[in-house]
Amino acid sequence: MAEATFNFPRNFVWGTASAAHQNEGNNTNNNWYAFEQADGRIQHGHKSGLAADWWGGRWREDFDRAAEAGQTAHRLSIEWSRIQPTPDRWNEDALDNYRQMVRGLRERGMTPMVTLHHFTDPLWIYERGGWMNDISDQFATFTEKVVGALKEYVTQWVTINEPNVYAAQGYVMGEFPPGRKNELLNSFKVMTNLVRGHAAAYHTIHRIQQNAQVGMAHQYRGILPARKWLPLDVGLAGLLSGLFNDFFPRAASTGVLKFPGWRYKIHHAKGTQDFFGVNYYTREYIRFHPFSLLGKRSYDPNAELSDTGFIANEPLGFYDALKWANAYRLPIIVTENGVEDADDHMRPRYLAQHIHQMWRAVNFNWPIKGYYYWSLVDNFEWDRGWTQRYGLWELDIETQARRKRPSADFYAEICKTNSLSSEMVARYAPKIFPQMFPNE
Ligand code: FCB
Repeated sequence: MAEATFNFPRNFVWGTASAAHQNEGNNTNNNWYAFEQADGRIQHGHKSGLAADWWGGRWREDFDRAAEAGQTAHRLSIEWSRIQPTPDRWNEDALDNYRQMVRGLRERGMTPMVTLHHFTDPLWIYERGGWMNDISDQFATFTEKVVGALKEYVTQWVTINEPNVYAAQGYVMGEFPPGRKNELLNSFKVMTNLVRGHAAAYHTIHRIQQNAQVGMAHQYRGILPARKWLPLDVGLAGLLSGLFNDFFPRAASTGVLKFPGWRYKIHHAKGTQDFFGVNYYTREYIRFHPFSLLGKRSYDPNAELSDTGFIANEPLGFYDALKWANAYRLPIIVTENGVEDADDHMRPRYLAQHIHQMWRAVNFNWPIKGYYYWSLVDNFEWDRGWTQRYGLWELDIETQARRKRPSADFYAEICKTNSLSSEMVARYAPKIFPQMFPNE
């Protein structure tokens, strides 16, 4: 039997990622709460409810689990609507609660990474049109408040999580608030304002904290032509990938916002990332279709699909994502990667194969500094409600009981040894052993 150990560089960071609205529970003052109350927006009418009850204090037990499992970092987000429930009110107790959480991570030997915007907007922002307006001043004021309160414990900041997904889902696909469909021009407006918001937050953080490391979490989704020989497929895939994948990183690197047919420059957005965050889940294929602006999307019919068919297991797409990220010449952090898999039949394979591809990338000396698995415990998956389970720990939302999935132990071995070995794969994902460790 072939034997191998894929070692990672010294000080490589192994963590998990989460987000306020998905984990905290009782968030009732933001756009997602409003969306959850409306008919037909969330699958099965699911509600975030108590979520993983982190606001009630259960972050303590979950952070204990993470630390015992060898994780050295955790990425969480701050809920703007808690800190600033109305334009003229600041909630110091909420800030203090977050201070306890990030201190709690430090006390457990974990480095906190804090996201300032993870899909949710306070109702007072939402009701005025949200990011359809230039709200960079408001976002900067909120940022200033948070950084001021947490700077003792936090130096790593993600300004905005997946701005591409936020704009596309909210204004083109209609699956996220405000649930608008095919409003391309409005999505461009929102994208422009998100760049402004990011840039304002970047400069605000650096003004307060000289040694801060600030980035965005970019979702990279491989968007490939279904028929490589057909220029219509190739052209459409290129156009969509340019808008979805390249728009924000380009804007943060050069200050140039490139829309189909026109460009726009926001000078102070140039050079506004100290690290490059990559969220990767899957890749897809695009087929041109005369009656559909965005073409028809599908997964490789040979790829293994997750529980609800939401994710195709495409580890090579992760390698592509890292290669793509490396072109920006910044330290790279994998800010999210994971799969929904309630009974954990696929996750061990997904983990092994994706971490293997990351190891390949590390061996080209691409500066990959860390990996945050999504997610520590099951949480509220936006419009998919509770139908998708990404946690290393399973959550029973009725009782709040946690149950460890086998992948939690697998990931713990990876974290603790800073490596992935053939022996681990033999135990946790035997099915892919011959493919990962061929005899010759
Ligand atoms: C990403 C989101 C994260 C979670 C995962 C599954 O797009 O950033 O909140 O929903 O997908």
